[in-house]
Amino acid sequence: MSTILITGGAGFIGSHVVRLFVNRYPDYRIINLDKLTYAGNLSNLRDIESAPNYRFVRMDICDFDAVLRLMQEEHVTGVIHLAAESHVDRSIKDPFTFARTNVMGTLSLLQAAKVYWESLPERYEGKRFYHISTDEVYGALEMTHPEGIEPPFTTVASSGAHHLAYGTSFFTEDLKYQPHSPYSAAKASSDHFVRAYHDTYGLPTIVTNCSNNYGPYQFPEKLIPLFINNIRHRRPLPVYGRGENVRDWLYVEDHARAIDLIFHRGTIAETYNIGGFNEWKNIDIIRLLIATTDRLLGRPEGADMDLITYVTDRAGHDLRYAIDSRKLQRELGWEPSLQFEEGIERTVRWYLDNQAWMDNVTSGDYQRYYEDMYAHR
Ligand code: NAD
Ligand code: DAU
Repeated sequence: MSTILITGGAGFIGSHVVRLFVNRYPDYRIINLDKLTYAGNLSNLRDIESAPNYRFVRMDICDFDAVLRLMQEEHVTGVIHLAAESHVDRSIKDPFTFARTNVMGTLSLLQAAKVYWESLPERYEGKRFYHISTDEVYGALEMTHPEGIEPPFTTVASSGAHHLAYGTSFFTEDLKYQPHSPYSAAKASSDHFVRAYHDTYGLPTIVTNCSNNYGPYQFPEKLIPLFINNIRHRRPLPVYGRGENVRDWLYVEDHARAIDLIFHRGTIAETYNIGGFNEWKNIDIIRLLIATTDRLLGRPEGADMDLITYVTDRAGHDLRYAIDSRKLQRELGWEPSLQFEEGIERTVRWYLDNQAWMDNVTSGDYQRYYEDMYAHR
């Protein structure tokens, strides 16, 4: 029997991973370890919380002794590590918390796994430590074309499908790390520790770097849920800079499927990039969100376009992210399943249908954070 410790399982991506594993693998025991920071919410997991193969443990990944005890008590055979501070704007205001959780927390988990697994007769055999990272560690890409063609231009993904790109370079697994924000610097540092634990001690590690996720249960400080909620309440939509920055968007359930596949079939010590070949300028997404939300609310088309409000840019704002996920497609056969317009429709509908969830997570401390964050822009 496998016992999988999933960290950060009460957060956005983690809750989708926990749900997938609890439902898909009734023979596994799934332990969700989460500190329940502002971003963790057990109501993300109501539907599976009483499943017989599931246990929630409130714990800080930085608490090495407690994590080690939990691993010993539960005979943990695999770790899927998602717990992190994840929001770039917060990292600009409070970098220490990001270094503590993302760097020291990851180190504490690595060391606990090493100590526990090395104490067993079979040591690392049948064990896996899977670290979830981000494409932001690679830095930012240009939006240029050698022949001066105006972006976006059409390129071809490995599947043969055409897609639009805003530049000719992409994040590949062999690119050197060039993080710009305190968030991505902390994630980059944690990735280095994970690889160091493989190279130094033989810990069976895997790292993946994924692009921007969207979908249900995302905390509404991130672009898509924040803007859907603001459109609904006819509040201004704070667009950083000129809205020209490009992100590569992936539906969160497609990421969870990739995690499942890589956890089971990925090669130890490898890195896989995960992305949707789905580049969008922020301003185009924002227009799509307004059109979709207005339509689903029965408002006249484009009624809320005037909510767009250009505000001071994010410090060090990365221009473009675009993942080359051909290695994952080639080696493990993974493909994103949803077209963006369909994913956005599903996502807007989910947030409109789940106003109670939104009200719950945006009450109290969040309200103060939100006011403080946008007051100076
Ligand atoms: P999130 O902020 O929604 O959730 C993070 C979770 O970690 C929360 O449940 C929180 O309570 C928990 N947590 C935070 N500090 C903790 C600590 N010290 N101990 C235990 N638990 C703690 O994050 P997310 O967007 O779901 O991201 C999950 C992971 O995926 C992160 O590692 C992030 O870097 C990575 N990632 C995110 C995206 C994205 O678009 N959201 C893309 C690529 C990679
Ligand atoms: O690329 C993966 C990363 O994607 C993850 O590692 C991070 O955890 C996740 O938060 C996300 O980072 P971004 O900074 O790209 O996501 P965010 O939703 O904060 O912003 C998306 C884009 O929208 C970015 O260019 C900034 C812009 N933006 C964001 C907010 C919150 C705005 O213009 N206005 C806003 O109010």
